Amino acid sequence: MQTPEFILVTTNYDTHIALIQLNRPKELNALNLQLMLELKEALRELDANDDVRAIIITGNERAFAAGADIKQMAGKSAIDMLNIDQFTTWDSIKKTKKPIIAAVSGFALGGGCELCMTCDMIVASETAKFGQPEIKIGVMPGAGGTQRLTRAVGKALAMEMVLTGKFISADEALAAGLINRVVPVELYMNEALKLAREIAAQSPVAVRLAKESVLQAYNGSLDEGLVFERKNFYLLFAGEDQKEGMAAFVEKRAPLFKGK
Ligand code: CAA
Repeated sequence: MQTPEFILVTTNYDTHIALIQLNRPKELNALNLQLMLELKEALRELDANDDVRAIIITGNERAFAAGADIKQMAGKSAIDMLNIDQFTTWDSIKKTKKPIIAAVSGFALGGGCELCMTCDMIVASETAKFGQPEIKIGVMPGAGGTQRLTRAVGKALAMEMVLTGKFISADEALAAGLINRVVPVELYMNEALKLAREIAAQSPVAVRLAKESVLQAYNGSLDEGLVFERKNFYLLFAGEDQKEGMAAFVEKRAPLFKGK
């Protein structure tokens, strides 16, 4: 990949964790087309890298991301939007097989809220604010906000947020089930890294199929999800990590997973 302009990517092969930082600080990390293409490419590469087992996406203390780039969209017609079809780039995020944690501080609005909801888990600082304020600029969420927010927090709160554009605090987001945890601002990256390390210590193949199965529950019906989950569970018995993991339990020692 060419050196990206709007994101910073770092990998730590000791911990097997990759960090993607959205990096348009002056624009509160507004998600323009190029940034999203860079994010897509970075995720594709990290997903294919066997030394990476968990990915963190973050912004900076002031903003995770304040939404899609309004200035870039403002003058577009419906046909322009259809032809550009920017949200197909976003689909690639949900195709990432490795677990993604959003580490959120400050604004996570519009596309920023949708981006962190597309990740698998959200760790937030006390200063985080979540919202879908598109209604205030005459549109509505377009990158999954009406669907993912509703599934996460339920109809009543999702409807209120989407129809009024109101923001909720990190504590409200935690109470509503939108995020995993809230910590003081100076700790949110550490907390995200801690969670990533815990996941990266597990069998990568089990993590991959478990993630796929949880998403299946989220996407489809319970019956379909149960069949899907069961097949993936049985499939894991074809691998060495299941043998190692279960043997280690019986032998009362720590497992050594190889991703095979
Ligand atoms: N797009 C483009 N630029 C943005 C932006 C966005 N989404 N959000 C902030 N910026 C820019 C501002 O224009 C400003 O730039 P200038 O200094 O050049 O004027 C800079 O970032 C700093 O922002 P503010 O001066 O507005 O900072 P603030 O602290 O006063 O307010 C804020 C912060 C409440 C987040 C405010 O910036 C805001 O309301 N931003 C827009 C939020 C929004 O509506 N998001 C939804 C976008 S549409 C979308 O995301 C569609 C979708 O479904 C994908």
